[in-house]
Amino acid sequence: MTEFETILLERKGGTDGKGGVGWITLNRPKALNALNAQVLDDVIAALDELDRDDSIGAVVITGSAKAFAAGADIKEMAPKSYMDMFLADYFARWDRLANFRKPTIAAVSGYALGGGCELAMLCDILIAADSAKFGQPEITLGVIPGIGGSQRLTRAIGKAKAMDLILTGRMIGAEEAERSGLVSRVVPADELLDTALEAAQTIASMSLPVAMIAKEAVNRSFESTLAEGLLFERRVFHSLFATEDQKEGMAAFVEKRPPNFSNR
Ligand code: CAA
Repeated sequence: MTEFETILLERKGGTDGKGGVGWITLNRPKALNALNAQVLDDVIAALDELDRDDSIGAVVITGSAKAFAAGADIKEMAPKSYMDMFLADYFARWDRLANFRKPTIAAVSGYALGGGCELAMLCDILIAADSAKFGQPEITLGVIPGIGGSQRLTRAIGKAKAMDLILTGRMIGAEEAERSGLVSRVVPADELLDTALEAAQTIASMSLPVAMIAKEAVNRSFESTLAEGLLFERRVFHSLFATEDQKEGMAAFVEKRPPNFSNR
């Protein structure tokens, strides 16, 4: 796998051409993984590589024990003008992760603040260490969330709690994050990476196209009415009966054996 300046990219498993997990570790320890332009370039290049690699069935993004990411890089942003931000369409390129088709897991330990919390929310599943701290403290810097926080946090935890976090800038711990629906699981810090890997390997053992379609169907619920979403689900559900993996999955159940999906 390619080497990068600000992240580590690894493959876990999947050497037989399927079922592998792409593993991205944010690696700017001195800046608590603050998200500068180089991190964004590196994450996008890594995602492109993992997208092209047919053996990869799921991706985990993680940080360090102290910080998943302490936000967008304040030192990089501080001197910028309105026109700098507008012309660069600053942060728009993070949409690459939102639009990434394979399933993604954020494994969060320590601080996930501002852009760090938003990066985690760009992933499909959030798993938190009991040490995790989430927040959108942009208001303390005289700005507001800029990588989707005002929208995705509100959809994830509801208006009252999102307003509370975004207007006060306060942090919440892992337990409150789970209670609020921001994260799906909280585990002891020393079990975080193993838990995330196990979840990713489980997903990667499924049919990749079916997992991609399942992800698409869930995401559709944020973009459509219930009737439209249900119609979308039914259409894609029916379409899966044109796949070899539907035949294999159901035959394996009937024959009482594990399925061997071909991703076709
Ligand atoms: N950008 C740039 N550098 C950062 C940073 C950030 N977001 N967060 C931390 N750092 C740097 C610090 O400047 C410091 O560098 P130096 O050693 O060169 O001074 C280093 O990382 C270690 O940080 P601290 O000494 O502050 O560590 P701490 O343990 O005392 O505090 C913290 C940890 C509470 C997370 C604190 O660093 C902090 O509050 N960070 C900023 C959090 C924040 O406001 N994030 C939102 C950013 S704006 C944003 O993300 C916009 C958006 O919507 C996309």
